[in-house]
Amino acid sequence: MPPRKPANKGGNKNSSRGLTVRVKSARGRKISSTKWLSRQLNDPYVTAAQKQGYRSRAAFKLTEIDDKFRFLKKTSRVVDLGCAPGGWLQVALERCPKGQVVGIDLTEIEPVQGATILVGDVREPGSLEEVRGYLDNGQADVVISDMAAASIGHSATDHVRVMALIEIALDFAEEVLTEGGAFAAKVLLGGTENQLLVRLKRNFKTVKHVKPPASRADSSEQYLVATGFRGRREA
Ligand SMILES: C[S@@+](CC[C@H](N)C(=O)[O-])C[C@H]1O[C@@H](n2cnc3c(N)ncnc32)[C@H](O)[C@@H]1O
Repeated sequence: MPPRKPANKGGNKNSSRGLTVRVKSARGRKISSTKWLSRQLNDPYVTAAQKQGYRSRAAFKLTEIDDKFRFLKKTSRVVDLGCAPGGWLQVALERCPKGQVVGIDLTEIEPVQGATILVGDVREPGSLEEVRGYLDNGQADVVISDMAAASIGHSATDHVRVMALIEIALDFAEEVLTEGGAFAAKVLLGGTENQLLVRLKRNFKTVKHVKPPASRADSSEQYLVATGFRGRREA
């Protein structure tokens, strides 16, 4: 069953009770932790994820992206890069009941029934080869990536690290995608570099940036969605 979206997704109210939950700062708790807790308690997507049994509020981002682009098909083989704690895996399993779902993350997570989950760093040689080994015929119809490198607070370095992850994801997608396949990945810090966009436009029929409603307005994240893979073409 497709996930129901939270009723008051634009508001700042706790959806289960219609009240804003105020978090008092406690001795020993950092202001940033109090703010985080307050945001979590008042976030309708967090409440809806808990109610609907999703591992993360991120589940709604993939739901909204796929509602718009419809790349998750019943029989799709899906690879989820940076899959922990597993919200996207759950959505992929719901939407691709006759397909295959394989995920990888640095962090080990509780199993998600129906999905193959590997622990590994996509930057390490061999980790994505291992993922590929689990795919039927070594091919995928969809590659999705919600990976984000932890910020070190130096924007130029953060940008390089984010771009490196996107390139790894795209290299892998171009290797395993079937014709017509789709690639969706989180991008940060003002979007995608021109060179990457040129490459995407060469190899995919359509390339779009999207900010799903579930993505926090104050976050610089957006998602790149490329559909209609045409095969890797040289420049
Ligand atoms: C925002 S979370 C993903 C949330 C997920 N889409 C969900 O719905 O639950 C980003 C994940 O990317 C993972 N990640 C970051 N860098 C990675 C890397 N080099 N290799 C594998 N996973 C990575 C992090 O460990 C983190 O769990």
